[in-house]
Amino acid sequence: MRAAITGWGTAVPEQRLTNAELEQRVDTSDQWIVERTGIRERRVAREGESTATLAIEAGAAAIKHAGLTPDAIDLLIVATATTEQLIPHTGAFVNDGLGVNCGSFDLNAGCAGFVYELVVGSAMLTAGNLDHVLVIGAETLSRVVDPHDRGTCILFGDGAAAMVLSASPDDGPGLISFDLGVDGSATGILGIPAGGSREPTTTESVARGDHYLKMVGPEVFRRAVRIVVDSASNALQRAGVTVDDITWFAPHQANVRIIDAAANRLAIPSERTLVNIDRYGNTSAASIPLVLSEAADSGRLQPGDLVLVSGFGAGLTWGSAVVRWGRA
Ligand code: ACO
Repeated sequence: MRAAITGWGTAVPEQRLTNAELEQRVDTSDQWIVERTGIRERRVAREGESTATLAIEAGAAAIKHAGLTPDAIDLLIVATATTEQLIPHTGAFVNDGLGVNCGSFDLNAGCAGFVYELVVGSAMLTAGNLDHVLVIGAETLSRVVDPHDRGTCILFGDGAAAMVLSASPDDGPGLISFDLGVDGSATGILGIPAGGSREPTTTESVARGDHYLKMVGPEVFRRAVRIVVDSASNALQRAGVTVDDITWFAPHQANVRIIDAAANRLAIPSERTLVNIDRYGNTSAASIPLVLSEAADSGRLQPGDLVLVSGFGAGLTWGSAVVRWGRA
């Protein structure tokens, strides 16, 4: 048995934040942002929108697209690094909003969160003999980014995308192989220091700005390319395929230069690499399902296509997978 992707849906806030608007706020330029990151605009949640509201909208669209009703979902996983509240988990809000009647949990693996939940959701579907698992990547990074830190505020955006995994035969479409990992020695180069057990929120932590995302960008960049290449290669090898067999490479949308460098080293041409970072920035756990959903909706991604997904994020985490697109 395999887990095939049988439905998908997305939700992005209507509000756009352009490079021109960021020029008014911090010492940057449209030219610098486009050349160094490939980003032209990103979406930002308005008041009343949150990680859970975006997840619910994307999840409902995916359930509908799969031709199901909420009661058909046997398990819900929400991958997010920007949880709705510290307690309870985001999935509790999403359970309620969607009206699903099943267990749920959150999965935080940073920007690799979608690949992790794809693997975990597929494993639980096959091991538990479930019919349908809903996996959602949802983020509101605008709520944790320092609006005056030009090193981070230009990069991140808000959004959500959801996918329904359904039982498929052994030789049918679905997850074929994966590679997951973490280099926990790198926790210091990307994260939010305060608000957890290690450094609880205090007036001092807020005064220091420790409730904001901190990132040593060039260090993340340097490691990211190697991580994506190694991890993607492992997933390909475990699937028994080569890059020539891959129809589409769907990398995490963090920086177009990281995407280009990794694709180049993997020898995957740009025509087979899915990119939408120009319009959404880095939406962390939402970025891979968002770019896949767009490609499927536009007809570029077709049933039978072999897809290589690869993400990396805070931790540093990484995850790659080879997936045969299509319904059983
Ligand atoms: N506008 C203009 N200049 C800037 C900006 C900006 N927004 N940001 C930095 N600069 C300046 C720097 O101050 C520096 O100036 P200096 O040479 O006078 O000192 C110069 O530009 C170069 O800075 P770098 O930080 O070396 O620039 P770099 O090319 O590395 O780009 C960036 C920075 C875009 C952050 C890049 O390092 C990057 O994309 N890193 C990876 C980020 C990433 O993938 N994060 C994953 C997050 S995943 C998760 O789990 C949340």
